[in-house]
Amino acid sequence: MTVAPVYKQGWTMDDVHWSLFDPSKVEPTMLAAVKAAALVEYNAPDYVTYLKRVFAGAGEETMASLEQWGREEAQHGRALGRWAEIADPSFNLEDAFARFRKGYTPAHFAEADGSVRGSRRGEMIARCVVESGTSSYYSAIRDASEEPVLKEIAGRIAADEYRHYKLFYDTLNAQAEPDISFWKKLWIALGRVRESDDDELAYSYYCANVPPEKEAITPYKRRKYSRLAGQASMTVYHRHHVQKLVQMVIKVVGADPHGWLANLAGALLWRRLAAKSA
Ligand SMILES: [Fe+2]
Ligand SMILES: [Fe+2]
Repeated sequence: MTVAPVYKQGWTMDDVHWSLFDPSKVEPTMLAAVKAAALVEYNAPDYVTYLKRVFAGAGEETMASLEQWGREEAQHGRALGRWAEIADPSFNLEDAFARFRKGYTPAHFAEADGSVRGSRRGEMIARCVVESGTSSYYSAIRDASEEPVLKEIAGRIAADEYRHYKLFYDTLNAQAEPDISFWKKLWIALGRVRESDDDELAYSYYCANVPPEKEAITPYKRRKYSRLAGQASMTVYHRHHVQKLVQMVIKVVGADPHGWLANLAGALLWRRLAAKSA
């Protein structure tokens, strides 16, 4: 039996075993998904600025952990981007990222002076939903990839994302604000899940996979690229990855991660993902 490596916090680009790269194991759909993911991850500094505004005055320790979080997310983008550049030399992370940035800025990053979720607790619930999604997504990529370097990078990122979930979960429960009701928590969590339908995933997939010279003849269409991004993601997911995601979210809203709600939500999400990518 092989034992999966344990990836600790604080890894650097030099820790990745790039020399093990095997071009014969690169799978085109996975490559397309990785390029898109690299752009979303690389966009983290905007989220740091926003979260620091939400937590203004919360103390140095909180600020330091948000900065560290942002650095790790940006490194996820760099690692995935470098892997994609090696697998496909026509891809350039910085160029694709510049196009993505030009066309995509969530309104609340530019405007809000507080949390768009209504409170710090609400903000942490939304962050936990995202980290639940990313930790299961990179676990799925790790399990599906036969290319050794991508497998390693995805394993390292999945471990980071799980730690991020824990950081935000602990921050959520450390807030002096009054707790919010179960239904309100569920509403915030579902709201964040619905936002996955916005331009971030569709447009990152477009910028990462349609070269600039083809933009004029292949214009961006949100529904089309949302579907293509969904299809690419669904090639890596197995039912158990989706169930883990749901359990992490259910825990944040305060219900039993192994109870009926988790089972029902897991089944519904799995059906929805399958339908979206059909
Ligand atoms: Fe990440
Ligand atoms: Fe993360």
